[in-house]
Amino acid sequence: MSDRYTLFANSALGRLLAKNLGLPMPLNLDRFQPGMPVISGAVLLGAAPGGQLTGAAASTLNNIQAEVHTYAQDQVTKIATASGLNAKVWNPEVDTEQKFKALIFDASGITCSDDLVQVYHFFHPVMRKLAECSRIIVLGRTPESCDTPRQATAQRALEGFIRSLGKEVKKGGAAQLVYAAPGAEDQLESSLRFFLSPRSAYVSAQVVRISACTTKAKLDWAKPLAGKVVLVTGASRGIGEAIAKTLARDGAHVIGLDIPALADDLRVVTSLIGGSALALDITAADAPLKIAEHVKAHHGGVDIIVHNAGITRDKTLANMTQQQWDMVMNINLSSEERINDALLAAGVIRDNGRIICVSSISGIAGNMGQSNYGMSKAGVIGMVNSMAPILFAKNITINAVAPGFIETQMTAAIPFAIREAGRRMNSMSQGGLPIDVAEAIAWYASPASSGVNGNIVRVCGQSLIGA
Ligand SMILES: NC(=O)c1ccc[n+]([C@@H]2O[C@H](COP(=O)([O-])OP(=O)(O)OC[C@H]3O[C@@H](n4cnc5c(N)ncnc54)[C@H](O)[C@@H]3O)[C@@H](O)[C@H]2O)c1
Repeated sequence: MSDRYTLFANSALGRLLAKNLGLPMPLNLDRFQPGMPVISGAVLLGAAPGGQLTGAAASTLNNIQAEVHTYAQDQVTKIATASGLNAKVWNPEVDTEQKFKALIFDASGITCSDDLVQVYHFFHPVMRKLAECSRIIVLGRTPESCDTPRQATAQRALEGFIRSLGKEVKKGGAAQLVYAAPGAEDQLESSLRFFLSPRSAYVSAQVVRISACTTKAKLDWAKPLAGKVVLVTGASRGIGEAIAKTLARDGAHVIGLDIPALADDLRVVTSLIGGSALALDITAADAPLKIAEHVKAHHGGVDIIVHNAGITRDKTLANMTQQQWDMVMNINLSSEERINDALLAAGVIRDNGRIICVSSISGIAGNMGQSNYGMSKAGVIGMVNSMAPILFAKNITINAVAPGFIETQMTAAIPFAIREAGRRMNSMSQGGLPIDVAEAIAWYASPASSGVNGNIVRVCGQSLIGA
C-alpha cells in the first residue's frame, strides 16, 4: 500500500506546504541495503564516571570502523584508545559545524538520582548537531540487577528520558535504552549494530534488556545466519514474506509455511530465496507434529522459529461471533504454544536456538473492536515472558516484536480515516514497512544475540498508541 502523503511531503512543493500549514513531515527513512556500512557518519561517545559499558561500546565502534568523537573526557578517551579507536576530541564551542549520526552514552556508572545530571551534560550541547535519521543509544544497568534502591531508581529513570528524547529527535531519528545485566558486556555487539544502523529505521524509544550468557558466537556479520535453518509461518505475503527474504539474505535456509490455499504464492516466495515450502494450516490438530517431523527429516532440526502467521476478525465484543473469537485466538496464540511444545518435546530446536513471535501494539494498548486480537497478542507477550527463563536454561531465546502500523494487505483493509490516523500518530509521522519488522527479527535471530532474551520490542515509529 503506497503512502501518497509521504511521497508528496518529500517533494519541494509538499515540503513547503507541510511546513507552512503545520502538517506532519514524514521523512524518507534511511533503510539498510546489503553492502552498506553499519553507520555512515560521526558517532559521539560519552560516559558518566564509573561507566562499565564504555569498553563494549568502543569495541563495537572499532569493529564497525566508525568515525568516533569524544568530549575532552579522560576516562572515555583512554577506554576508546585501549579498544583500538583513534577518537577525535570534539569541543562544541570550537567546532560548531560538526554533525553526528549517532550518540552513545554509557550511563551504567550512575548510582543515584543526583548523578543523572551527567545525562544532561552529555546530550545538551549536541542535540542541535544531529544528522538526519540519527541514532541515540543510552547504555544502562538492568534496574533489577542493581545493588541499591538508589542505583535502581536512577537506572530506571533513564527510561523516561529516552522515551521523551524519542519524541524530540526529529528528522527520522530514533532513541533507545539498552540495559545490560552484570556480565553481559560481551553480549552487546549485535544490539549496538542493530540500533546504530538503518536496519532499525522504524524502531524508536525502546528499552531492551541483555542478559549475561556464556555463548559467544563468532560469525560473518554480512551472513550471520549462514548454515541456519529457519521456519517462518505465514510466509507467502506481507510481513512474513519480508521476514523470509531478510533471513535468507542473511544466509539462512528458510522453510516458508502457509495455508494450503496459498501454496502457489508461498512457492513463489520460497523459490526466489532458495528456500522450501510447507503448506499447512497451523491450527490443524496434526500440524505441530508434522512441523517437528518435517524439520527433523529434511534438516535434522531447526535453529529459528518465527511465529508470524496471524489474522484479525475485528468486531466489538457485542457483535463478535464465537467463531471469530476462536479463529483469532487459535491462529495467533494457541497454535504457537502447541508448535513450541511439539518442537521442544521432539528436541529438534538446536543449541543457541531462537523462538521469535509477532505480537502487536494492540496487545499492549488494546484497540476498539479487537478484544479477540488484543487478547491473543497480549497472550503472545505472556508466552515470551513466561517461557524466557525456562528456554534460556536450554540455551534458546524467545523474544517478540510488536509492530505498530505496517503497510500490508492487513492495514490496507482498514477504513481510510482510521488508516490515516494510524499512519501519522507516531514520532515518524508514517507507517512502517514489512522490512522494518523483518530487520528486528533478523537481529533477534542472529547467533550473536544469545543474551537478548524475553524482550518485546515495538516496531512502531514510537506510536502514540499505548505509549
Ligand atoms: N500489518 C500490520 O500493521 C501489523 C501490525 C501488528 C501486528 N501484525 C502481525 O504481523 C503478522 C503478519 O501480518 P501481515 O500484516 O503480514 O498479515 P497478512 O494477512 O498479510 O499475512 C498473514 C499470513 O499468515 C497466514 N496465515 C493465516 N492463518 C494461517 C494458518 N492458520 N496457518 C498458516 N498460515 C496462516 C496468511 O495466509 C498470511 O499469509 C500477524 O501476526 C499480524 O497480527 C501486523
